[in-house]
Amino acid sequence: MKEGISGKAIYRKDYTAYPWDVNRLDLHFEIGSETTVVRAQMEFQLKDGTKSPQAIVLNGSDLQLVSITLNDRVLSGEEYIIEGETLTIPDAPQNCVLRTEVKIHPASNSALEGLYLSGQFLLTQCEAQGFRKITWFPDRPDVMTTYRVTLEADQSEFPVLLSNGNLVDAGELTGGRHWVRWEDPFPKPTYLFALVAGDLALVEDHFTTRSGRDVVLRIYVEAENLDRCEHAMESLVNAMRWDEERFDLEYDLDIYHIVATNDFNMGAMENKSLNIFNSKYVLARPDTATDADYQGIEGVIGHEYFHNWTGNRVTCQDWFQLTLKEGLTVFRDEEFSADMQSRAVKRIRDVRDLRSRQFPEDDGPMAHPIRPDHYVEINNFYTATVYQKGATIIRMYHTLLGEDGFQKGMKLYFERHDGQAVTCDDFLAAMADANGVNLDRFSLWYSQSGTPQVHVSDHYDAATQRYTLKLKQHTPPTHEQKSKQALVLPFALGLLAANGDELPLQFEAEADAATGTRLLIVEEAEQEFIFINIPEAPVPSLFRDYSAPVKVFFDYSPEQLATLIAHDSDAFVRWDAAQRMAEDAILKQCLAHAQGLEMTLDPSLVRAFKGILSDQQADPALLAEAMTLPDEDYLADQMDVVDVDGIHAARKFIKKGLAVELVSLLTARFAKLNDGQPYQKSATAMARRSLKSICLSYLLETSAGESLAATQLESSDNMTDTLAAIKGLILMDSPLAATALSEFESRWKADALVMDKWFIMQAIKPGRKTVDTVRKLMDHPAFSIQNPNKVRSLIGVFSMLNPTGFHTADGSGYTFHADRVIELDGLNPQIAARMASAFNRWKRYDESRKALMKAELQRIAAVDNLSGDVAEIVNNALR
Ligand code: PHE
Ligand code: ZN
Repeated sequence: MKEGISGKAIYRKDYTAYPWDVNRLDLHFEIGSETTVVRAQMEFQLKDGTKSPQAIVLNGSDLQLVSITLNDRVLSGEEYIIEGETLTIPDAPQNCVLRTEVKIHPASNSALEGLYLSGQFLLTQCEAQGFRKITWFPDRPDVMTTYRVTLEADQSEFPVLLSNGNLVDAGELTGGRHWVRWEDPFPKPTYLFALVAGDLALVEDHFTTRSGRDVVLRIYVEAENLDRCEHAMESLVNAMRWDEERFDLEYDLDIYHIVATNDFNMGAMENKSLNIFNSKYVLARPDTATDADYQGIEGVIGHEYFHNWTGNRVTCQDWFQLTLKEGLTVFRDEEFSADMQSRAVKRIRDVRDLRSRQFPEDDGPMAHPIRPDHYVEINNFYTATVYQKGATIIRMYHTLLGEDGFQKGMKLYFERHDGQAVTCDDFLAAMADANGVNLDRFSLWYSQSGTPQVHVSDHYDAATQRYTLKLKQHTPPTHEQKSKQALVLPFALGLLAANGDELPLQFEAEADAATGTRLLIVEEAEQEFIFINIPEAPVPSLFRDYSAPVKVFFDYSPEQLATLIAHDSDAFVRWDAAQRMAEDAILKQCLAHAQGLEMTLDPSLVRAFKGILSDQQADPALLAEAMTLPDEDYLADQMDVVDVDGIHAARKFIKKGLAVELVSLLTARFAKLNDGQPYQKSATAMARRSLKSICLSYLLETSAGESLAATQLESSDNMTDTLAAIKGLILMDSPLAATALSEFESRWKADALVMDKWFIMQAIKPGRKTVDTVRKLMDHPAFSIQNPNKVRSLIGVFSMLNPTGFHTADGSGYTFHADRVIELDGLNPQIAARMASAFNRWKRYDESRKALMKAELQRIAAVDNLSGDVAEIVNNALR
């Protein structure tokens, strides 16, 4: 990456250690919404073996400096240099105490980074580099110190004053003011600092750790939300217990606090003992939150809790190592959810998510390895690649080493690095050393970007009963990395007979055959496996459980896919085979559509889906996943030039065709699932609702659907059923949709999270009219461009999840969206940059759309004072 318009690239290879230890940080806040005064005192000590004298370099941004004192002497303006975001004190003494006083202005902070106002309370967000908006300090993760934080504020306006660690003292002051002091015994980097001040209510619970430590658990919310915390609390308790049982990791303080805010750039933040959450991942009641919301809460609560060890106790040396904590912690939360719910369903959903969000990254202008080599704005690297692909790489260690080997590696990792800021190499070394294996070749996964393609071919020789499988791997070049090498791929394989029986696998050199999945390792660009004593031409079941994050190509016949769908022992392969079959069918009809031919429905697809729908044994949630057709964006990724309208038409044609063919089965299954039982939160009930919703969505393609949806809406006692019904009515253009939406609105207009769903339902409606709806909705009283959840629900959903709306041929969707990016850039660059990435894949469209998108990108790039965040995204896209 060359220099961006407003930012310079930073390179991983340029890392140098900070020359100073900071032994202690004492912070004092005089809290006020308009102005907060921050006094900091820090003890600097030159690191052993560092040549002196050295300069002290601090980071700061948007700070109003009042004074700076070195060893009790106020420094004059000539004794330090402020340049951009750094303050340098040249030639500082080997041991010194630095004191600063600054003023900051939370109420006018719309970037939601640093200290800011949300509703009636103040809170902080410091990852990655928000601490520098609070005070001058070495704002980098490898500078760890212990914090003592004193918060002083008006008692009635800010009755609750929280920070990390333990409450050690508190008192009252004159004039209705009070103060509270917190001490965190664990040294931590700046990004894990947090404070919260305001009028919040709380729910409380307890957890006793395995060794007997009593931990008080509190969730702080605005008072009206007190009845929506139960699920989050239950998830927290489950997460704490699970981490003890599965990872042998116990909580290390007496307090665990969670605060929910409506104004948050991301999902949640793992600040030591004071997690801050987007309220979307805390608040739930059956009538306000869907099953997906409940599952999201469980996952994110778990994720932030698990960071206490993987992220906080052992943190990152620099931001290039982000996946060290994020990939690992996502892996841990995936495993947690898998253990709590259905492992197979969780795996399928995670793979779907990887394919639809991460594969496009690898294939676009922002492609990067899970451990990037450079960045302009680190906030742009909180990506599906670092998180989700990062987690699949951790999963491969697990697959290769097994649960025991993996846990041995984790144990060694903590033994070596507890309390340190380390690198991905350190993690790999711990895994290798604990298991006595060499993982040097595996390490390529950290530095190579792109999605590997594996082309598999086979040959069966009936005379010798030998079966040969040949794998060729190849990773297409990415924009920043042209040449690629062969990767280590765990390859989980099974072979099926035509009747669906699993065939025993035996290599030539082996005395016996083994039945079931076999884990093989692929490490060359081309590799062959030969099996003996195979009695018939088998159907290969490839990369079971998605054992490596690759695109697999094999020329399956429809019969072979049908065998896998009906019989494979691996739920992922069964699901994947159904997806492949549906994908082939849709893409074929898309081609027909483009050639002006009549579209047709392949009977083998009908048969396969009939089989799925008739399965009374399998988990209904698995069947729901199998019946969900690949989404339009995923299908678009499979085309050389995206045919937006063709994909939509073909997918709709197939869905309707299946619905018509299977209407009686769908009706019967729907009726059976629609048993009139009151809402339950159990995994079984959720699984049944998911199949019920997908059955309804098919039925809505037939004349039977509308009245079923209307009845479901009337009798629904939960948000999952309600949304399935309203969404269905909107999609089918039912005259009932308008009433449903307005009733929903009048019931929930004061409820921010529920109104997000109301915006989403309208923003996602296909077709060229939606851009006008979205534009109008921006004037709705419940909408605010300052609020990230609202922006994501209305603008983000429209531009990223509604292809026929966004890519409307006249370009009106693009213009609307570019205007929003520009508007947002002045308010919240992080969110603006996320939104700007909707244009990332503009080169994959037809000439006319390409030109329209390019023009909008250029218009954004030309804006005066564009943030570094957005500049990096659009400059990359344009390059
Ligand atoms: N570290 C947070 C998580 O993944 C995400 C986050 C990043 C939140 C940056 C806020 C800002 O759990
Ligand atoms: Zn995380």
